[in-house]
Parts: sequence; C-alpha cells; structure tokens
Amino acid sequence: MAQEVTVLDKVFVPYITRAEISSRISEMAARINEDYAGKNPLFIAILNGSFIFAADLFREVTIDAAITFVKLASYKGTTSTGNVVTAIGMEERLTDRHVVIVEDIIDTGKTLSAFIPEIESQKPASINIATFLSKPSALKYDVKAAYTAFEIENKFVLGYGLDYDGHGRNLPELYILK
Ligand code: IMP
Ligand code: MG
Repeated sequence: MAQEVTVLDKVFVPYITRAEISSRISEMAARINEDYAGKNPLFIAILNGSFIFAADLFREVTIDAAITFVKLASYKGTTSTGNVVTAIGMEERLTDRHVVIVEDIIDTGKTLSAFIPEIESQKPASINIATFLSKPSALKYDVKAAYTAFEIENKFVLGYGLDYDGHGRNLPELYILK
C-alpha cells in the first residue's frame, strides 16, 4: 500500500488504488464499446486533468473511435449565467458526430455546464460525459455524466492526472486530503 504524500502545505493519504481504477475503467470502456458500436464516437478530453484517464480509457475502447483534446479557458462573460468558456484546440467538426466528453472530475459542474452549450451549438448527433470522478454533494449546476468511474466525498483529491497547484498529477493512484 502506498504511503501518505506531502504536496506543498498539504498531506494526502491513499484513497483509490491503481487496481480499483483499472477495473472501473475496464467496466466503463466495455459499456462504451457496447453503446457506441458502429457510431465512430469522437472523444473530447479536457486538458489538463483528464489526460491520464483519457489515455487509459481510450486504450480500452476497441470500437472505431477518434479522440481530440481541448483546453478550456474561462472568462467572465456578459451572459445571464456569467460563465463562459473558450475551447482552445477545438478544430473537429462536431455536426452529426457522437461526442463523448472526457473529464477528470465533476465538482460543482460549472466547467462542463459552460462548455456543453458550445458543443450543442454545432449540432452533434449526441453528447455524453465520461468522468473519472464526481462529487455529488458539491454539484451546483445541472450536469449529468452518463459514465462515472467513482463518486467520491466532497474532499480535495490528488493524483492520476489531478493536481494541487500544478503538483501531483504523476501520482499513479488517487490520494485524498488527510
Ligand atoms: P467544476 O467546474 O467545479 O466541476 O470543477 C471541475 C474542475 O475543477 C476539474 O476539472 C478539476 O480541474 C478541478 N477540481 C475539482 N475538484 C478537484 C479536486 O478534488 N482535485 C483536483 N482538482 C479538482
Ligand atoms: Mg479539469
């Protein structure tokens, strides 16, 4: 079993092992392989946090599928929600594509609630979310993932692509604030 780790001013303890992560990702990929057979889905992985999850999930997707990566930059908009994001690197045409958004974690849901309308505006055939983690008790926006590897408590987590102030993304398993 891995030991606790200190990152900057905080101590984290092991939370979800590599073996548990692998097994949940295999289950998710199996469902996706079934649900999207013959549909050539386009996975849109949201950088930076989802890159490790996306790589592990996509390797287990055995049907014909494509993947692209976007970085979301948020700024204060003038819309009623006041929450606007620009997708950097979004070059694919989404019209009539089956889109699967790949996210590291849905916390409040703010990020995805701002991004999804931008995808919808391109009239894709369908949109679903595959998220590594979600914190149901932190959710404030109407965002629902079709595929969730783990629902976790409302505490800060680290590793497997998720960072604390730029640190800890390379930890191979998931840690939680002590
Ligand atoms: P949301 O917009 O509130 O759903 O937040 C989503 C983003 O916040 C994620 O993509 C992460 O980058 C970051 N985030 C939320 N919770 C955590 C956490 O516990 N650890 C690391 N990053 C987190
Ligand atoms: Mg993120």
